[in-house]
Amino acid sequence: MIIQHIEDLDFTLDDIASMPLPRKVLMVDPEYFDVVYVINPHMEGNEGTVEAGEARQQWKEVRQSFEALGLPVSVVEGQKDLPDMVFAANQSLPCETEDGHRFVVMSKMQSDHRKDEVPYIEQWYRQNGYEIHYLDDDIETFEGMGDAIWHTGKRLLWGGHGIRSSSSAYEQISEELDVPVIMLQLTDPSFYHLDTCLGILDSNTALIYPDAFSDDSLDLIHTLIPNVIEADRYEAEELFACNASCPDGKNVLIQKGTDEVNRQLTAQGFVVHELDTTEFLKAGGSVYCMKMLIW
Ligand code: ARG
Repeated sequence: MIIQHIEDLDFTLDDIASMPLPRKVLMVDPEYFDVVYVINPHMEGNEGTVEAGEARQQWKEVRQSFEALGLPVSVVEGQKDLPDMVFAANQSLPCETEDGHRFVVMSKMQSDHRKDEVPYIEQWYRQNGYEIHYLDDDIETFEGMGDAIWHTGKRLLWGGHGIRSSSSAYEQISEELDVPVIMLQLTDPSFYHLDTCLGILDSNTALIYPDAFSDDSLDLIHTLIPNVIEADRYEAEELFACNASCPDGKNVLIQKGTDEVNRQLTAQGFVVHELDTTEFLKAGGSVYCMKMLIW
């Protein structure tokens, strides 16, 4: 079931079956992380500026923050000449089915620079007993959990399209995973993945940058989600506020300095953990992009 307009909506969140929260995290070691090509506007002018030692330290703190929340982190080795592989949100879309089966859909990256990352991540899933699914040949691109975001605790997927992922990917995904997909159209190249402008924090709360969406998409967000927190352009674009990760519906891991968003989060009872991901912002990614939540 694919929903693109509010007229297509015939359910509320309460009608959607629940799904357990992810229990683990997958990250890719930052050894080969760098900015050497430009495939999103954030990368422009940052070629050759990544400080490797600083990046490793920041990555370690992200890893430790997930571990401190009780989520064990598995690490896949990075690969030479795949400088964006560290963004582990992009190569796959995992889930746990209703009968407790672990399942993953592998991505089809848009940029040739990133296509070779996918088999390395697939190998990890294979070794760890996941059932692997591939998208049909006629589906051009799909960038995993960068664009397809699980609604916290629900068998419901939010699917971004228009910049990186093809809308046709969601028809197959909806069928194979047997879940409704709310499709959201992205309209601003600075917010090129859904996870740059939408974060689902708990089953009732989203953090969004509203100007990154078409009007229909914004209507869908407001119709389905009772509590929508908005980031301003500075915090969303420069500090990737919406790329925060809230794996347990309470603790929010977010780039340091998103003061306006943090004030709203704290007022609503979320616990904010500020992290420095500035080396990764140079490539157009922050906390959410740097890991995959898995079951
Ligand atoms: N340089 C990477 C790219 O443009 C960054 C990916 C960040 N990941 C994300 N989920 N937004 O593909």
